[in-house]
Amino acid sequence: MKIIADRNKCAGHARCAAVSEELFQLDDCGYIAFEARTVPAGLEELARRGVRACPERALRIVIDEPDDEATP
Ligand code: F3S
Repeated sequence: MKIIADRNKCAGHARCAAVSEELFQLDDCGYIAFEARTVPAGLEELARRGVRACPERALRIVIDEPDDEATP
């Protein structure tokens, strides 16, 4: 799972970072600091909540390969 951020849409509301500062890192000006990042295992629900919290719809979730089902 990845979070994709459209930095052109980000208006610096920081609601994503209020859900998780770890997942939604902001730059020094308070805007989202990345364009894409992988969601660590176990933080998927937090990622979804942060994405939903953005009023500008600058964030979205992309499901990539089914890592979650990998067995050790
Ligand atoms: Fe930007 Fe939306 Fe977060 S406007 S700072 S991506 S809540």
